[in-house]
Amino acid sequence: MEIITAVRDMQSKAKQLRREGKSIVVVPTMGFLHEGHLSLIEVARTIADVVVTTLFVNPTQFGPDEDFERYPRDQKRDEQLAEHAGTDILFAPDTKEMYPPGHRTVVVTEGISTVLEGKFRPMHFRGVTTVVAKLFHIVKPHHAVFGQKDAQQVAVIRRMIEDLNMDVGLIIAPILREDDGLAMSSRNVYLDPAERKNATALYRTLLSVKEFVGRGERDVSVLRREMTALLNEAGHSGIDYVTFVDKETFEEVSRLEGPEVVALLAVRFGKTRLIDNMIIPVTPETP
Ligand code: PAJ
Repeated sequence: MEIITAVRDMQSKAKQLRREGKSIVVVPTMGFLHEGHLSLIEVARTIADVVVTTLFVNPTQFGPDEDFERYPRDQKRDEQLAEHAGTDILFAPDTKEMYPPGHRTVVVTEGISTVLEGKFRPMHFRGVTTVVAKLFHIVKPHHAVFGQKDAQQVAVIRRMIEDLNMDVGLIIAPILREDDGLAMSSRNVYLDPAERKNATALYRTLLSVKEFVGRGERDVSVLRREMTALLNEAGHSGIDYVTFVDKETFEEVSRLEGPEVVALLAVRFGKTRLIDNMIIPVTPETP
């Protein structure tokens, strides 16, 4: 595996690969890799000749009171894991390289980036779209792999790619979970044992809601009440949102309509905020 830290070097390499007729796939990450990230790299392996994993803890997507400083980092370990999963090139720039003094340009996807996660983390998605647009220009990929774990991020990036005519195919990989159902996340290391145990309620709640919907419940206010009760039973430090959105537009719905909706949760356990989601099939109502 080759490690590249300079933007110019990555761009020359990408140009050379394209001249040689190779297809490139990028897997953007902020590192502290877990099996969820590695599953993305494994998917990437199957769709292009060259897998570029990026490792960059992007300061612009963290709010002033968020965890940028204490975000877990371990580059040596990430290098080994990324290589083992099938990365050909690890692009690991530092902050000065990505945001040299004087940078002034941002990418903003309006509307969708101001609701839900965007409401609780106002500058988050503009940081994400800006850095992902930059990574696309640097790595020049034919395809990019993102995880369904961050469902709204996927919707925002899909919008950006379409609106800015970026010639990058978007591939979405399913959520990888721990044995007890907790979605893998670099932030899970913040949880103390009691919080870690309570956090399993997220997946249990999503499974139950899928069951309620399977039995015919379509009213979001009823479903929200059930979900909130299940979360309250487990114990948490605050529910930011429990909601359902249209899979394509990411608009909140008050009544479920098929073929699919996404159930979304953002819940705090101690100081740690976790998100999870599930795509839920909705069969047409029988009259
Ligand atoms: P990060 O949180 O490191 O996640 C990198 C990628 O891994 C994202 O596409 C995310 O959805 C995916 N991922 C995380 N946990 C997963 C899980 N349990 N199962 C499957 N995929 C999972 O998301 C970011 O970084 C950043 O916002 C980034 C896109 C790199 C821009 O800075």
